[in-house]
Amino acid sequence: MPKLTLVQPDTGPDSEVFEAMLAEESNKDLLRFLTCGSVDDGKSTLIGRLLYDSQLVYDDQIAALEADAKKGKGASGEVDLAMLVDGLQAEREQGITIDVAYRYFASPKRKFIVADTPGHEQYTRNMATGASNCDFAVLLVDARKGVLTQTRRHCCILNLLGIKKIALAVNKMDLVDFSSDRFDEIVSEFEAFTKSLNFEEVVAIPVAAVKGDNILNPSAHMRWYHGPTLMAHLETVDVVSDRAASPFRMPVQWVNRPDSDFRGFAGTVSAGVLRPGDEVVALPAGKRTTIERIVTYDGDLEEARAGDSVTLTLVDEFDISRGDILAAPDAEAEVSDQIAANVIWMDQNPMLPGRDYILKMGNQSATASISTLKHKLNVDNLEHQAGTKLELNEVGYCNLSMSRALVFDPYAQDRDLGGFILIDRLTNATVGAGMIEFGLRRATNIHWQALDIDKSVRAQMKAQKPCALWFTGLSGSGKSTVASMLEKQLHTRGQHTYLLDGDNVRHGLNKDLGFTDADRVENIRRVAETAKLFVDAGLIVMVSFISPFRSERRMARDLFQENEFLEVFVDAPLEVCEQRDPKGLYKKARAGEIKNFTGIDSAYEQPESADIRLEASKRTPDELVSELISNLEKKGFI
Ligand code: ADX
Repeated sequence: MPKLTLVQPDTGPDSEVFEAMLAEESNKDLLRFLTCGSVDDGKSTLIGRLLYDSQLVYDDQIAALEADAKKGKGASGEVDLAMLVDGLQAEREQGITIDVAYRYFASPKRKFIVADTPGHEQYTRNMATGASNCDFAVLLVDARKGVLTQTRRHCCILNLLGIKKIALAVNKMDLVDFSSDRFDEIVSEFEAFTKSLNFEEVVAIPVAAVKGDNILNPSAHMRWYHGPTLMAHLETVDVVSDRAASPFRMPVQWVNRPDSDFRGFAGTVSAGVLRPGDEVVALPAGKRTTIERIVTYDGDLEEARAGDSVTLTLVDEFDISRGDILAAPDAEAEVSDQIAANVIWMDQNPMLPGRDYILKMGNQSATASISTLKHKLNVDNLEHQAGTKLELNEVGYCNLSMSRALVFDPYAQDRDLGGFILIDRLTNATVGAGMIEFGLRRATNIHWQALDIDKSVRAQMKAQKPCALWFTGLSGSGKSTVASMLEKQLHTRGQHTYLLDGDNVRHGLNKDLGFTDADRVENIRRVAETAKLFVDAGLIVMVSFISPFRSERRMARDLFQENEFLEVFVDAPLEVCEQRDPKGLYKKARAGEIKNFTGIDSAYEQPESADIRLEASKRTPDELVSELISNLEKKGFI
């Protein structure tokens, strides 16, 4: 996972204290961990207990809690630790929307940032956001309830996100009489589930957060337990992977060129060690060069290691830009425009194979679409399921195809270089997070063939300007009528044309597709590619498809050069189309005989800025065609 935004509750003095503490303790090592578990497993109490016992709570907050306790508001008249956490949550709910809350505390040995992922509904999204910054997780279960579906789900997601070590905190041991049998039972059930997942270490700890048993101090009630307390484990668990031992990688953040004498490539070394004189390869171009100097504010370095922010100069003039990756030449990162990856879907609108999204991976970005959803992962039982789309919170194993080759390492090897996010092109929302398994080689073996006879030569012979006229509108709006009349007129004028009509193409090329959202996306993808071929052949192509989604119309537009594509919105209100009902389909749709009918129970997203809008309910087809012709002449298309 790339680092998603670290959202800090903006609570004024809190953030100052937070900063001050970070500065003061900067030489202590830092563990970032995540807590997860079902709603009532006592997560808030556990975090509250850690904050309280490590004395990171303000005196006035404690005074307020103690006063509440006296008034009987807290559980059994004691200080209610959960209120420390829930109090902050309530504050947040009033103003700021927040997916993940980060809290800071410290012990004499280590400092900690705990990512608390509230929200039952959006748990995958929240966990993915939280885990992207974490190296460790504490998974809570209620000793009375044991391993629940939610426990398994969270566990599965932690595994997917590359968390290698976890602690299973079996909480509320006080409510099962501190029974070692019950603890053992839960642990063996949990181990049976995690056997097939690849965690490096799972440590189970029996705790009672409300009383502090086995949190900071060993519990007097569970002498049968000889393992570490939760805090002791948090203080000692070894999560520091030796990034310096891996092959060298540095994503170029920016090119520093203050004057013509200096050109440096700035970034943070993400893995390995580098010295002046070392050879590196610049990817994706694959050119090799040698490091001249390693420059920093404090002078040149003899060596840069993983984590260092540096500016590198090269012995030769070399064209490298932001987003490129410098790598060790004997262990290059992968470069491909097709990958296999696990994708966690985070958006209300489902992921549809074939739809274009923006893929961002560190400083690199590309247009990407899921070419195949190979299977969905059932996170409750790890089973693979067939599926045609991914809904909110679902996880799928997919092949993705990108508009250009990107540089990466598999996620299991490098979370930064192997993790990406997917962004919706229209709303700019982050809709998915992905973890690369491997690059698909087939793309690298298919090359572009240079052809001597190209579009311009073919167009010249026909003495016309090839283009695509994309008609969109409801069924019955008049697209096909207008397109077909236009074609006749163009033909009379001696122009070479072709008309791709939804009804006809669906009998041939697209006869395997129905009318679900996923099928419509694929329908439009294929016809847009076909139109592109015809434009390449030098023709004036008319495409007459409902093409109900903005995303796919945009995708179609992006396949063409700017002055080659015109979106024509054949605009007639639903009532008018329904009244016309030339094929009797609206009637059937209203009667429930046809499902997913556009305008009835399937969406039509109106163009926001069509190049030409035809008022198809107010004019005759002849008038519309004349209007279209004069528009095309004005725009220089014919
Ligand atoms: S699109 O939405 O995928 O672009 P397309 O233009 O190919 O649709 O096909 C639409 C034509 O299929 C309509 O003109 C209509 O005749 C027919 N049709 C059959 N079922 C449906 C349906 N459920 N929704 C819309 N059109 C349908």
